[in-house]
Amino acid sequence: MTVSELLKARISVRAFLDQSLAVSVVHALLDEARWAPSGGNLQPWKVIAVAGAARDAVSRLAIETLAENPAGEAGARPVYPASLGEPYRTRRYKIGEDMYALLGIPREDRPARLQWVARNYQFFGAPVGLFFVIDRAMGHGQYAHLGMFMQSLALAAHERGLATCMQESWGMVRESLHTHFTLSPNETVYCGMALGYADPAAAVNTLRSDRATVEEFAIFQGFE
Ligand SMILES: Cc1cc2nc3c(=O)[nH]c(=O)nc-3n(C[C@H](O)[C@H](O)[C@H](O)COP(=O)(O)O)c2cc1C
Repeated sequence: MTVSELLKARISVRAFLDQSLAVSVVHALLDEARWAPSGGNLQPWKVIAVAGAARDAVSRLAIETLAENPAGEAGARPVYPASLGEPYRTRRYKIGEDMYALLGIPREDRPARLQWVARNYQFFGAPVGLFFVIDRAMGHGQYAHLGMFMQSLALAAHERGLATCMQESWGMVRESLHTHFTLSPNETVYCGMALGYADPAAAVNTLRSDRATVEEFAIFQGFE
């Protein structure tokens, strides 16, 4: 598969087969993703991979934490800005509605939608969960570099027939995760990722997000 094919083929998968992954496979993916670039070559990433009982433990932790505190622990780094302007608001709405249409969950069935959101905390059934940890001192540049690492990992996974879903939803329990993983005071969990084999029978995995055209986001100057 070429890089351009991979870029178009990678999607967020939200239903996984109950099929375990060897740690050697996860290790190999990280070994490839570490070649992602970063400003000043800071490589501002640390990864915690969980499977089996360790995966179940973080799932339980998230469900219990959010039951006690539904507002969550995203703190100063919420998943989205408090006020999401256009065109972002419409894009977010559309992907959500497209997904719930595939799931057959109407807008008014709020309990069912919340139950679906809670599937994030079971990694949508994936056998492996990854957490991306960053130094709290890092700024927006280093978060972008961590994103490059994550995309590299997602592409490497896809190349091997694996599927991923990046999950900022784990930021909702970042303080509990911090304690759980006994991270140092200068570290924080940015994002999670579900990793495993896609369930080909799941309707939600037929979701295809659209993108703005190049003309909508690019400006070309000085060309002949
Ligand atoms: C950093 C990041 C965090 C994300 N967090 C979540 C999440 O918590 N839950 C979820 O279902 N999807 C999550 N997504 C998936 C996006 O909704 C998805 O990438 C977007 O709709 C485009 O679809 P595609 O990945 O299938 O191309 C996240 C994506 C990124 C890049």
